[in-house]
Amino acid sequence: MKLLVTGGAGFVGSHSVNALLQAGHDVTILDNLSTGHRWALQGCELIPIDLRDTYHLNRKLKGRGFEGVLHFAAKSLVGESKNQPAMYYQNNVGGTTNLVRAMQAADIQKLVFSSTAAIFGNPISDLIDEEHPKAPINVYGQTKLVVEQMLQAVTQSSNFSATCLRYFNAAGANNTANLGEWHEPETHLIPNALRAAAGTGNPLTLFGDDYPTVDGTCVRDYVHVDDLASAHVAAIEQMDKRGAFGTYNLGNGNGYSVKDVIAACEKAVGTEIPHTIGPRREGDPATLVASAQKAHNELGWSPKHEGIDEIAQSAWNWECYRRDSLA
Ligand SMILES: NC(=O)c1ccc[n+]([C@@H]2O[C@H](COP(=O)([O-])OP(=O)(O)OC[C@H]3O[C@@H](n4cnc5c(N)ncnc54)[C@H](O)[C@@H]3O)[C@@H](O)[C@H]2O)c1
Repeated sequence: MKLLVTGGAGFVGSHSVNALLQAGHDVTILDNLSTGHRWALQGCELIPIDLRDTYHLNRKLKGRGFEGVLHFAAKSLVGESKNQPAMYYQNNVGGTTNLVRAMQAADIQKLVFSSTAAIFGNPISDLIDEEHPKAPINVYGQTKLVVEQMLQAVTQSSNFSATCLRYFNAAGANNTANLGEWHEPETHLIPNALRAAAGTGNPLTLFGDDYPTVDGTCVRDYVHVDDLASAHVAAIEQMDKRGAFGTYNLGNGNGYSVKDVIAACEKAVGTEIPHTIGPRREGDPATLVASAQKAHNELGWSPKHEGIDEIAQSAWNWECYRRDSLA
């Protein structure tokens, strides 16, 4: 298929571009490079525009023959979203409504949208399925939920089809394609633990060790970014089969505590990772683990990289490459 990938120069987007190329698709990337990277483009054409720029967006989508769009472009820092809510709504909600309208004007009817576990807020069950109540507790999660609702409404009033993929904690890297995670600032645990180990980052602070979990630290579901990528390939390829609107939770279904993750990173690096225990962070639920049964049943998706050791090792290989070849 001839596909447009917004945010294809970012972390999850670039791994998905790699998977789409491997599956034989023709990929064009649209990205304003605000948090994305030129080295992640993998030889694809770049449309270097901002989704908030409706004039250029409409012009760039018309007449290109795109058959579908995978939409990763968004701002995704919880803390930043609290401080700059209007910017988050403009970028994530406004950017997506602009995209949908430009797609409709260009007669492109298929969209895969990057949603998040943050739409659920504080979980009422340990395993979160698609029907779990949606009550986001931060602006970032709110913007993603509003977009899901908007997409559902659009699919109900037209031929437009949309699939929302709700990732839990994206992690790991593709060492064959030399792709990986590089956010500034980095807020994710695994890269921060690895950088603390390598002496290239700040000392690591654990946010609370008095949660009602196995060792007192927060438990999360880490899903390898290549597994997220394969879900995107399945979602866009099967969209016709599945009808107009779908939502899928994507995770391993296994919870790892912060201390488990640090132990896995220590194993990968071969050294102890110095860390201190700080207070709890506002809005961090004790446990967040996905039920991905629906994605398994309907998309035929199951994660191939389930263990935290494998995820940490691939992230460490990437971190070494990044430090030696790109930084
Ligand atoms: N990384 C995770 O753990 C995670 C978890 C759940 C959901 N998500 C969602 O997945 C998507 C990708 O996340 P990521 O970690 O790869 O982020 P990222 O910051 O690495 O990638 C986002 C990309 O979008 C581009 N972009 C942002 N705003 C844009 C705009 N207005 N116009 C054009 N391009 C724009 C950026 O330059 C970047 O290349 C996001 O929508 C995010 O909310 C990520």
